[in-house]
Amino acid sequence: MRTFRAHPVIVFRDQHLSKERQYEFTLTFGEIEGLHVNRLVDAVKYTPVHTVSNIGSDGKPSAPTRERGNYYWHSDKSYHDVPSLLTMLHGVEIPSRGGETQFANTAMAYAALDEATKQRISGLRAVHSWERSRIQARGLLATEEQKRERPPVDHPIARTHPDTGAKVLYLGNHASHVLGWPEEEGRALLRWLEAFATQPAFVYSHRWRPGDLVLWDNRCTIHRALPHEDMDKERRVLHRTVVKGTVPY
Ligand code: OGA
Ligand code: MN
Repeated sequence: MRTFRAHPVIVFRDQHLSKERQYEFTLTFGEIEGLHVNRLVDAVKYTPVHTVSNIGSDGKPSAPTRERGNYYWHSDKSYHDVPSLLTMLHGVEIPSRGGETQFANTAMAYAALDEATKQRISGLRAVHSWERSRIQARGLLATEEQKRERPPVDHPIARTHPDTGAKVLYLGNHASHVLGWPEEEGRALLRWLEAFATQPAFVYSHRWRPGDLVLWDNRCTIHRALPHEDMDKERRVLHRTVVKGTVPY
């Protein structure tokens, strides 16, 4: 836990963990998140350790459909009123080329903003919305049930990290617009801040090996998956757990 406070992304190599062991390790960080809103439909098959993959219902690899949102910068579950603390991914099957996960450090990004921008965003809140996120990811749209289950929430754009006290940018693809602003204007500000935060200087790209266990702090990073070559031929399978965090302030 101490290491985790000091390092927003941690990589352990050569961890050949069962789902049960990953579940137990995840529990040492806090409460495990329940069902993803996307998976309300297949609740029966759900286990707290779920699989992120490019394998379709026919058992064959394909370009992403349901996980499309992962290809846009985001912080996991920022559309919840109590969003996630950390996510843990365990690499099981890794494509030979591509398929990296990228992480941007939004504490470094905030610190690098000019004073006028810090002033401008101070006190502003972003509306985070699952419905809007699906539109922005150009994937499957949110169902009526999902919209009911996950109404929009709002969080500070400049968030305080509860452990380090540092100000961080809290945004990404689930962020829709700025509370109380015309939507397009807010969207433009959020996209500008996201582009600023994801400059190469603030980004680590993780090149996966089977057995990698990667965990990251969703409070001070945003992340995305990069597509891999031959997505319709090569399998990419990771096991995922998410720990619940606290209300952002
Ligand atoms: C996730 C996620 C990225 C990846 O599991 O939350 O965004 O590289 N995954 O699969
Ligand atoms: Mn994610």
